[in-house]
Amino acid sequence: MSGVYKPIRISEKVYWVGAIDWTIRDFHGYTTKRGSTYNAYLVLAEKVTLIDTVKAPFKEEMMERISALVDPKEIDYVISNHSEMDHSGCLADVIREVEPEMVFASVMGAKALKEHLSIEDEINPVKDGEKLSLGNMNITFMETRMLHWPDSMFSYLHEEKLLFSQDAFGMHLASDERFADEVRQDIIEYEAATYYANILLPYSQLVLKLLEKVAASGLDIRIVAPDHGPVWRKDLPWILGLYRNWAEQKPTKKAVVLYHTMWHSTEYMARAIEEGLLAGGARVKVMSMESFHRSDVAFEVLSAGALIAGSPTLNNNMLPAMADVLTYLKGLRPINLIGAAFGSYGWSGESPKQVYDMLSEMKVDLLGDPLRAKYVPDKGTLLRCFDLGKAIAARLNSAV
Ligand code: FEO
Repeated sequence: MSGVYKPIRISEKVYWVGAIDWTIRDFHGYTTKRGSTYNAYLVLAEKVTLIDTVKAPFKEEMMERISALVDPKEIDYVISNHSEMDHSGCLADVIREVEPEMVFASVMGAKALKEHLSIEDEINPVKDGEKLSLGNMNITFMETRMLHWPDSMFSYLHEEKLLFSQDAFGMHLASDERFADEVRQDIIEYEAATYYANILLPYSQLVLKLLEKVAASGLDIRIVAPDHGPVWRKDLPWILGLYRNWAEQKPTKKAVVLYHTMWHSTEYMARAIEEGLLAGGARVKVMSMESFHRSDVAFEVLSAGALIAGSPTLNNNMLPAMADVLTYLKGLRPINLIGAAFGSYGWSGESPKQVYDMLSEMKVDLLGDPLRAKYVPDKGTLLRCFDLGKAIAARLNSAV
């Protein structure tokens, strides 16, 4: 061991012993421009307890941070709140090395660790609301199934009023700061929203139910320690309020105009739609797939009331980058969107209808038929695009 990696105290008896990944830029299709952290926590209770582990290549970094506090063999319990590999990829090795007395996971987590990660050691399944004594401290488990995997759960440490929330309230942000209040608020808000849009958005109805469940539980939560990014010790109402807003996705006056273009014709249409939206009083984000990543688009759609998408036709299909982003967005299941489809073509011209069908499958409330332009949009077509933008802006205005 190098001895360079140190733990960071986050409350009286709890230390961050995770790892910082400054270089990761792709997290299963989500671009992580600021890297990430894999947070593991050590609770120095009578029963020394490790909460989650880290991505496999970072195991030694975590073990060094632990070793600066205790001999890892002194770890009595390991709790796995989430079995995705960024938190459990080294769990089997850690169990072998540490030989804890017991390992705990949710009922689904125990199954996942065995089936997915071939962990043969005995995992003790815990139920929603079940309590665990750490001797002088106590944990209550809260199942958070499908947020965002079937195995996901929270662990609440009563004596420190601390909620270990695995992916929830996390963000992909590599930084020296371990607390959210130490980081610029615009960065925190952007990264938390991007994380929500790209990871949790499909489960928004469950998020709303979970927020109610946490409020009804009467748990006095003062610190939230997620598995990615900084720990929340201030501004908890702020991040909880943001989660409620993102989960509700109430209609807004913002429109995202999403397109790809070959020879600028579809781009001319996008810009005319943009002008119509602006003339109608909407806010607009124009996103060419040449310039933006799909996860940037997800971030913008999270706060949008309209999604207008366009592509020219290439070999009887929409451009590949449009198929990519629309497939991604469809999986994220945004709600409360109105929209339209458009695009240029030379001869067959299937693409605008394909875009329209994808938006329709996403349950976007579509205005009119797909708007098409042969070769280069003429003045009349551009005016129709402008009018489409104005009509969408009028609908947005009436919805908010
Ligand atoms: Fe950070 Fe769902 O793993």
